[in-house]
Amino acid sequence: MKKAIVVVLMLTVLGTLVFAAGAGQKGGTGGQPQIGVAIYKFDDTFMSYTRNAIEQNALGKAVVTTVDSQNAQPTQNDQVDQFISKKMNAIAINPVDRTAAGAIIDKAKAGNVPVVFFNREPFPEDMKKWDKVYYVGAKAEESGTMQGEIAAEYWKANPEADKNKDGVLQYIMLKGEPGHQDAELRTEFSIKAVQAAGIKVELLAEDTAMWDRPRAVEKMDAFWARFGDKIEVVFCNNDDMALGAIESLRKAGFFSGGKYLPVVGVDATAPALQALAEGTLLGTVLNDAQNQGKATFDLSYALASGAAVSSAGWPIVDGKYVWVPYQKVTRDNYKNFQ
Ligand code: GAL
Ligand code: CA
Repeated sequence: MKKAIVVVLMLTVLGTLVFAAGAGQKGGTGGQPQIGVAIYKFDDTFMSYTRNAIEQNALGKAVVTTVDSQNAQPTQNDQVDQFISKKMNAIAINPVDRTAAGAIIDKAKAGNVPVVFFNREPFPEDMKKWDKVYYVGAKAEESGTMQGEIAAEYWKANPEADKNKDGVLQYIMLKGEPGHQDAELRTEFSIKAVQAAGIKVELLAEDTAMWDRPRAVEKMDAFWARFGDKIEVVFCNNDDMALGAIESLRKAGFFSGGKYLPVVGVDATAPALQALAEGTLLGTVLNDAQNQGKATFDLSYALASGAAVSSAGWPIVDGKYVWVPYQKVTRDNYKNFQ
């Protein structure tokens, strides 16, 4: 009986301690800082990797609340308002619309809640609005250049790739979301790299499939119906779309009986690595979700704890940016990424 009372008393004391810590400056359970994370939409393959990486890195260090902005900026704005009114110690935002970053910064500044943006880069003029604003991402042009180099190398090693023997590489471009830095710059720099390798190019058609595999199947079906064997290379701004293009081309008889068409993606998702193993996808570029997620967490955590961002251990460029490098992934090295 006595024992039970002691236990109850101890639990009460513990509970009070936890509560006290929870009500303290850090706001989180047991004194851990609270970090609000908004993802533009959960239903995006690459973002699900990044999100997992953020949450894994937070274990035992911070209380992370992750929300799905469901591809709607008004929804995300409400979520940001809630994070701020709940006095989160920092927020990490993957904007639905990068042009909305300015308004998010204004709110965060008013509530004195530091912000780390990731994957969707705000405009430089918005980044300058406050000193407690950071961005974690990867240099989009770098991924485009690597895609172009992969295609150029294939083109030079395989003369039969020039199906109509006109010395020009005829291509299709499947774009991600228009306005997204990764969509715009991968589209531009992939082709620049092909040209820099001394190859003439001709764009047959370009269209967006919004990073999405089923949409890419539809677009590629239509391109095949329109251009057929005129198509010599298919560039895709990400792997989900590349896998959609491959799915479509399979229906047209490719990837069996020696019929091949080079398709290039970006991200190095698990299904893309599988496609490399199977010999369908020509190549991809690692978009390093592990390190982008880790850097996003580490910076948010430093800011939430009131520590110097330099203590997060990532090189900060121009006082605000962490750049995680891309890497080329082909049949030669894909096993290193599985
Ligand atoms: C890109 C990635 C795409 C998509 C997009 C979302 O970096 O390559 O697959 O996830 O981010 O913003
Ligand atoms: Ca040609």
